Amino acid sequence: MPILNWIGKEKIVNHDKDVAFRLLKKNQKYSLGNSENLILEGDNLEALKALMPFYYGKIKCIYIDPPYNTGNEKWVYNDKVNSPKISEWFKKVVGPEGDDLCRHDKWLCMMYPRLKLLYDLLSDDGVIFVSIDDNEQPYLRILMDEIFKVDNFESFVWKKKGGAGNTERIIGNLTEYILCYFKNKRAGIFNYRNIEREYKYKDHIGPYNLEGLEKTNQGGYERKTMMFPIIDPKTRKKFYPKAGMRWTAGKETVGHMIKEGRIHFDYGKKRIYIIKRPVHYAESENVFYNLLLDVGSLSTAKDELERIGFKRELFDTPKPVALIKRILQIATNQNDLILDSFAGSGTTGHAVLELNKEDGGNRKFILVEMEKNIAKNITAERVKRVAKGYLYKKSNGEMVKVAGLGGGFEFVELGEPLFDKDGTINKTVSFEDMARYVYFTETRTNLEKKNIKANYLGEFGSTHYFLLFNGIGKNILDRKFLTTLKGINGKKIVYADKCLLDEEILEKHQIIFKQIPYQVKIY
Ligand SMILES: C[S@@+](CC[C@H](N)C(=O)[O-])C[C@H]1O[C@@H](n2cnc3c(N)ncnc32)[C@H](O)[C@@H]1O
Repeated sequence: MPILNWIGKEKIVNHDKDVAFRLLKKNQKYSLGNSENLILEGDNLEALKALMPFYYGKIKCIYIDPPYNTGNEKWVYNDKVNSPKISEWFKKVVGPEGDDLCRHDKWLCMMYPRLKLLYDLLSDDGVIFVSIDDNEQPYLRILMDEIFKVDNFESFVWKKKGGAGNTERIIGNLTEYILCYFKNKRAGIFNYRNIEREYKYKDHIGPYNLEGLEKTNQGGYERKTMMFPIIDPKTRKKFYPKAGMRWTAGKETVGHMIKEGRIHFDYGKKRIYIIKRPVHYAESENVFYNLLLDVGSLSTAKDELERIGFKRELFDTPKPVALIKRILQIATNQNDLILDSFAGSGTTGHAVLELNKEDGGNRKFILVEMEKNIAKNITAERVKRVAKGYLYKKSNGEMVKVAGLGGGFEFVELGEPLFDKDGTINKTVSFEDMARYVYFTETRTNLEKKNIKANYLGEFGSTHYFLLFNGIGKNILDRKFLTTLKGINGKKIVYADKCLLDEEILEKHQIIFKQIPYQVKIY
């Protein structure tokens, strides 16, 4: 299998192991109640590592939408992988040669350790989806073949817009890729579509949905060519867009749609709708097609943000809720855990809450966003609004209350590292923090708080784990500890600062002493 090489790769291949473990601290002010959903502010490299003692091997579905590396500097966040935080990280990790890396080298250096951590977080039946365009798609494919293994690969193409000028390229670009890797590809992981449930209406042809033909005039300027009268050929009645609105399609396209019977004139509501039928009706049986159609566009994603009360220009690259919901319908069940570590405007959180509301599910999400302003004022704020409900201003100025989807989230930030630079344990580390970390590094499983009984962390693979950690430097493995071992037979690993028991006694009780901090494993 071909392996991709690039400048800086050797500095990065094991970098995920060097990233410091940091603690998580809740920020009540930006949270919405107490919840298992998380919005985590921080660079996802450190954030994913911090999540490891809680979620290793537990995430069923990962969706990420990383910067596409388009070289477009005008965006709200910097897509050039040159944001100050990432540049600082390059200097530290790759060293002076970091300055000479080309755009693609840098992007690959950024992605590699993050994808390795995502691999570890994915459950045995989990699947990762990665949105990408032509700038990095070929490199990402080979990179992910290496980390996730080529046999686990599948891919989707998303139709992101209906038309495109050819200003950037010779061919107008209407699609994007969504690369998809299973942790272990096998039949039965994906859910087949239930078209009957996805489509609200049915007639003699089959199921269909209705999509309004009107949209708001973006940015206040009026596109006159999209504001023509549309005549119902049966009644000759004319329909016009409402004040502040325009049609979503031009005269010629609307003419074709009327001829093909794809337009519905609603006299009660005085509105015109496009009749949307499933393109892949056969998907409901037992096949999947790789084309994602009718799941929103770049423009509907912006409409969604606007509806929730954000300015269109506030966030430049949102994905539509329907796209993420389709992925969740394909790859998750009702109680699964979903992670998005390039969260942006929080579409994934929104999609999880909306799908839960629709199918009575209890899916949970973890969103990670690096930029402070985005994480607090866009990601968290959006999820808060859709969870609680919000007021929506219609084009005629009328305010409409949109009901909340329910749910909440805890907003967390990255706290102190577990270990200082010189390897000593940070003073703020609690018993529970240390217990989770030690148990995870020993067993690669996550410790449930309810299973901790004083110093005893539990049994795994016929070994019992203990942690003596009650203040730094005060934890001594001595005869008193032996009295707590009643009824616990077999091999025991005990973490403590000091051991006062001699070899013979340790052997008799099958105890292996591990000294804190020197023998605490690094993950
Ligand atoms: C393309 S946007 C994602 C858009 C998102 N899918 C949505 O629907 O809004 C990428 C986001 O990832 C964030 N980001 C970039 N590098 C990151 C990193 N190292 N850790 C966490 N977030 C990062 C950016 O700030 C940006 O908000």
